[in-house]
This record gives sequence, structure tokens and C-alpha cells, in this order.
Amino acid sequence: MSNRSRWLARAMAVLSVMGMGTAVGSSQDSNLAQTPPMGWNSWNHFGCKVTDADVRGAADAIATNGMKQAGYIYVNVDDCWQGKRDEHGMIQPNEKFPDMKALGDYIHSKGLKFGIYSSPGPETCAKHEGSYGHEEDDARQYAAWGVDYLKYDWCSASRVYKPEEMRAVYRKMAEALHRTGRPMVLSLCQYGLESVWMWGAAIGGNLWRTTEDISDHWDRMSDIGFEQNGLEKYAGPGHWNDPDMLEVGNGHMNHDEYLTHMSLWCLLAAPLLAGNDLSKMTPETLAILTNPEVVAVDQDSRGIQGHRVWEEGPYEIWTKPLADGSTAVGLFNRGEDAEDIKLDFSAVGVPASASVRDLWGQKDLGNFTGSFTAKVPRHGVVLVKVK
Ligand code: GLA
Repeated sequence: MSNRSRWLARAMAVLSVMGMGTAVGSSQDSNLAQTPPMGWNSWNHFGCKVTDADVRGAADAIATNGMKQAGYIYVNVDDCWQGKRDEHGMIQPNEKFPDMKALGDYIHSKGLKFGIYSSPGPETCAKHEGSYGHEEDDARQYAAWGVDYLKYDWCSASRVYKPEEMRAVYRKMAEALHRTGRPMVLSLCQYGLESVWMWGAAIGGNLWRTTEDISDHWDRMSDIGFEQNGLEKYAGPGHWNDPDMLEVGNGHMNHDEYLTHMSLWCLLAAPLLAGNDLSKMTPETLAILTNPEVVAVDQDSRGIQGHRVWEEGPYEIWTKPLADGSTAVGLFNRGEDAEDIKLDFSAVGVPASASVRDLWGQKDLGNFTGSFTAKVPRHGVVLVKVK
């Protein structure tokens, strides 16, 4: 099969899953994002101050601290790298990013991949030059720089397009990226507008934000994470719901709260884009980001997004079926005091007697009959695998 027919076959497969029949352009032409994308993004920590040196520093850290082995591959520059367009309409970086091709080469030299950011509107959310009217130019420029991932953020597009034009606007960039011949992950960032999960995959998106922005605070993170229930049927290999990037290690949540954040994102099969300063991370933060048994829940090859199976007041149980026939289970305590939470095996469809393994502790807890009960700290989680 030629590349083109392989791409068409895949696009048609996605469409038939979506119950739609007409062919569209798509960046889903090369087995991209078969598991939720993992990497780092500059926004949550560096915001608009991000520099070339910060991005290189993140790549250095990932390549040497165990994150690369854990699966973190994309090194993504968010907003505020853009300068002006040259006389041919080609976007140029600003003075903080002297040479984007060289930055891409540097990231690639570490065995990592390079991500970038733009908006379909005239301006990005931080008022830098967007891609409006220059979609083809930008796709070609990104390909020339060696870009592997584009986050495409609605922002000022709301000034020039109607909501009902959104799909066509995103499809336009998916097609422009496709025409470059360079596989690039396409991340739709429009905060869950227009029920993006219904059409994000069909127009060529590999992931789509389902919410407004996360922040490094328990209330915001937990509201976003726990409200993802119900979207699970829209996620799968190549196309993922994105409840926004990680705040682990940014300093405004405690250890249990960050464990809840990471556990929930993994049960949700969410993209795992670290958002902290990787060059200055504590061993505790690194351990949260790289626990292999927890990351394996996120990266499981079946690609099933977990969902809530039980809740009572501030206590919730979420499950995610895994490829080996076992089930990952999160016992969450959103309350203000530690509490015993009981997992009733019949509620998660496991046999009356099952073995339970603690994933954060990476140790077997033994065989249990009928149920398993654990003391869960305030704002905390017990994450287990039941088999
Ligand atoms: C929006 C996005 C954020 C970030 C900023 C950059 O708010 O949702 O993730 O990209 O724009 O300006």
C-alpha cells in the first residue's frame, strides 16, 4: 500500500468509527499518538518568558533524568516564540529564539521530538502572530524547522470565525500539515467548545482540549479531572481527550494532591505533558512523573479511557481496563479528612477473589475476597491494579 492509500484507509477507519462517511484531510497518516502523547510543554511554568535556553534545558533534563525512558518524548514550545513574518509571509521567531531549525535539531539530537504552538486566528492568546491567512506557509515553515507536534489554539479566531466554522478551520490546518509530508501530531486547543470530542478525530486531530485552562491549585485541577467522566467513548489510539497539561511539581499542591493529579490523568488516558521546570525538579516530583507502573496505566495499548464507577459524597472510584485483562482502579478522597474507601469487586466486574497491587508503592498487597478497603488520605488516592 502506498503512503497515500494507507492514510486514506486510516482516515476512513476513523470516519466509520465516528459514523461519518466523507473523506477529510487528516494528519493521522503515520500511526501518530497511538498512546497518549507524553512530553513537556513550556506554558505552565515559563509562560510567556520562555526562551530557547529554557527549552534546551528541558530537553537536556528529559534526556538524562529518566523521563525519556519513561516515555516523555515531545519537547513543546507553547506561546510566545513568534516574531514577525518576513517579506514572503513566512513566520520568524522572536529574539528569544534565535534559530528554530537549530532548536529542532538540538531536540532531535537527544532522540526527542519538537513541538510548537500557533492559533488559527490573527493573534495567539498572548497576542503574538497567529496563522490566520498563512496556514500553508506556517505548515511548511514548521516542517522545514523539523516540527513534530502542533498545538493549535483558538484564541482570537473567535473574532474572525463563527463557532460553526471551527471544524473547517481546524481541518484546514490538518490538511496543510498533511501536505507537507512530515508527520505532525495535531493538538486542538479550543477548550472543549462545540463538543470537539464528537469531531476532533474526523478532521485530523490527535488530541483535543476538553476544558478551559488548568492551574496549579487543588480546586481547579480536581474540578477539571473529575468532570471528565462521560467522555471516555471518544478517546482511543490516535485520538485523545486532553484535560490540559500537568502541574505536578509547580509548587501549589501538596504531595497527595499531585498523586491524585497524576493518577487521575493516567486513568483518563490523558496526554502527559509535564509543565514544571525540569531543570530544577525535586526527586519526589521526578518520581511522580516517572513511576513506571503508573505511567503504564496511561500508556496501556488498549487505549481505553477510564471512568467513574462509584461515588458517595467526596469519595470516588474510577476504573480503567488494561490490555493484560487486569483493571486499574483509583480510590479517590476529595474530602478534607482521611477515610476508608471500600472497593466492591462486583462493582468493577472482577472475580470474587482477586490479587491487588499498589501501583505507587509498586508492591503486591495480596489476595482479597469480595472487596478491598484502603485508608485514603485527604485529597489523596490509592491506585491499584486488580487481577
Ligand atoms: C491558552 C491555552 C494555554 C496556553 C495559552 C498561551 O490559554 O489554553 O494552554 O497555550 O493559551 O497563551
